[in-house]
Amino acid sequence: MKETSQEIDNFLVDLLSKVGQSLREDVNKNKNIDTKSGPNDLVTNFDKSTEKNVVGIIKEQYPDATIVSEEGYGDDVTSMKGLVFFVDPIDGTMNFVKCHDSFASMIGVYLDGKPFVGAIINVMENKIFHGGPELGVFENERKLAAPIDQTLKDGLVIISAPMVLADYDNTQEVVGKSSGLRVLGCAGLVFEHLLKGQEVIYMSYLRPWDLAAGRVLCETLGLAVVGVDGQPVNMLQSQVVIAGTKNAVSDVLKTVKNSK
Ligand code: IPD
Ligand code: CA
Ligand code: CA
Repeated sequence: MKETSQEIDNFLVDLLSKVGQSLREDVNKNKNIDTKSGPNDLVTNFDKSTEKNVVGIIKEQYPDATIVSEEGYGDDVTSMKGLVFFVDPIDGTMNFVKCHDSFASMIGVYLDGKPFVGAIINVMENKIFHGGPELGVFENERKLAAPIDQTLKDGLVIISAPMVLADYDNTQEVVGKSSGLRVLGCAGLVFEHLLKGQEVIYMSYLRPWDLAAGRVLCETLGLAVVGVDGQPVNMLQSQVVIAGTKNAVSDVLKTVKNSK
């Protein structure tokens, strides 16, 4: 059977609305918290149980698809051939643990390497951003219009705090050339902001599951998503990513080019 983007979109919306409902119940419960790459890279029992559940449901519905996921329940994916699902069960785990707010869950789907369908739930606000190139982008049932193609100086930027603090890739100059810096601590919510035109740039080191859904939705709305060299991103690698309006991304690339 050949899956259509509309079928997968319906499947993702249904799945993430159930995930959202569970996580809203879990957010104030006691959590088992472990660290991964460092003290600020957290994983909880809820990240693991959510991913296990989501991966199981995808495998049941799409047995021929492969799954790239954060906590190890997916496959060892080395090719973008066919349907590939990218799962971030809780995006913004630090916010989930410390703020009990401002976290997301995301699933991005690619077909033969091309963006196909993406869905991001802003869990505490119960808003799902979903769609793809054949569908358009929706906030729940409402279709979103493409953001205005603003330049860097006319817009706010979101850049991950560690990158700005270290002035990595000339990020302090990028901030200086913009209307100001914002930091959210959750890639999924940043993509929500970009889709709504609230900021013009997102710059961060992202892993495949941090990027997959947001890239589908951003590109569908005419936003650009590139590496620091201005080249297309590789969905099976982690990299610094610049996403935003075409004009602002082109302004940032000129500034990044001057970095040592
Ligand atoms: C993290 C968040 C954060 C971003 C990190 C991600 P996680 O995801 O999206 O905003 O700066 O790079 O790893 O680990 O909470 O899923
Ligand atoms: Ca995560
Ligand atoms: Ca993430």
